[in-house]
Amino acid sequence: MKKILRFPDGFLWGAATASYQVEGGIENCDWAEASRKGRVPICARACNHYNLYESDFDIVQNLGHNCHKISIEWARIEPEEGVFDLNEAAHYKNVIASLRMRGLEPFVNLWHFTLPLWFSRSGGFENPQSVERFTRYAEFVAKEILGDVKFVLTINEPLVWAGNGYMHGKWPPFKKNPQAYKKVWGNLVKAHIAAYKTIKLIRPEAQIGIAKHNMYFKALGPNPIQYIREALYKYFWNRRFLNKIKNHQDFIGLNFYFYRPLGKPFGKTFEKLPPLPKSDMGWDIFPEGIYHALMELTQYHKPIYVVENGLADADDSRREAFIRGYVANVHRAIENGAPIRGYMHWSLLDNYEWAEGFEKRFGLVEIDYKTLERHIRPSAYFYKNICETNTLELEEPELELKSEKY
Ligand code: BGC
Repeated sequence: MKKILRFPDGFLWGAATASYQVEGGIENCDWAEASRKGRVPICARACNHYNLYESDFDIVQNLGHNCHKISIEWARIEPEEGVFDLNEAAHYKNVIASLRMRGLEPFVNLWHFTLPLWFSRSGGFENPQSVERFTRYAEFVAKEILGDVKFVLTINEPLVWAGNGYMHGKWPPFKKNPQAYKKVWGNLVKAHIAAYKTIKLIRPEAQIGIAKHNMYFKALGPNPIQYIREALYKYFWNRRFLNKIKNHQDFIGLNFYFYRPLGKPFGKTFEKLPPLPKSDMGWDIFPEGIYHALMELTQYHKPIYVVENGLADADDSRREAFIRGYVANVHRAIENGAPIRGYMHWSLLDNYEWAEGFEKRFGLVEIDYKTLERHIRPSAYFYKNICETNTLELEEPELELKSEKY
């Protein structure tokens, strides 16, 4: 039994990238410094997207997308405290204009994980002055770069960034310090709110949000402790930050990657379940998870855009099924009342996957890092058909929509 899922008119379809992961040539940020010290892989020229963005956007246009998410590299714009580089501002203005020229609605993210060296050296977001500093940067971007950009994100995944940098010691500044984590968490809330207000004054028509990394937590066992854990995780990981900024966001950007079952499956139905398929990162592929994550966000009564969702899949053997399953579940959430207005796949290009370097392949487009040639993966054409028709055809609707036993 086939089923055709139609998306609302005007639905936005696209892909996402982030400056440090694709641009290349950024040497004055904390990640570049950490790589020089051998603590994280070297990024160097990455995909050279900084110079090749026009031809990359030609690919995007040919793939039928109608929106695209980028980020601006703070270290390029403000290489020294209070000193703003107008040439770099012009560069990003050109990037935005070239998206528009190709009919692509830009989503512009102000900050995706990497910090200017002067900022990280002066305490990063642990320093209370960080709020003012970030707001000054946001003000410059609003005045000099954004123009008529409608969708603006201030911060990408505050909890992932703070967790890896201040609790797990995996990312710059490599701390394992709960006190510092707490401070940073609080300053990120303040930084978002202050930046929101500042951008709104300059660009009242802009829609401003953050990209929030939420997971689908699910208690599996009969043990009541798992249900308590589920409620706590949902609150502390998914909602607490959003609650703090709920009066200062016009939409919610969802980055969705993880299904986190809690406890062990129980009962006869679980005994014969095969393990879930996995991406090259070893992450479970569980399309139904995005449905639950989206439904949880409906309580904020704000438009929702999926601004990242994807997988590492070097041989492209799972990406098509991944897209089919996750997009089908986005549709299911829309049918159940979730105000979802767009979906952006992570990522357009293979890129620098932070502490993992270049090995993991998240792109709809493959990069040959020796020649920098781009090769469009077959799954990108499958996605193109969805984008161009604004529909998804399911061969096995039951299978593709639900897998409730897990
Ligand atoms: C981040 C990206 C990252 C992706 C895959 C997201 O959490 O925003 O920068 O590459 O996950 O790990």
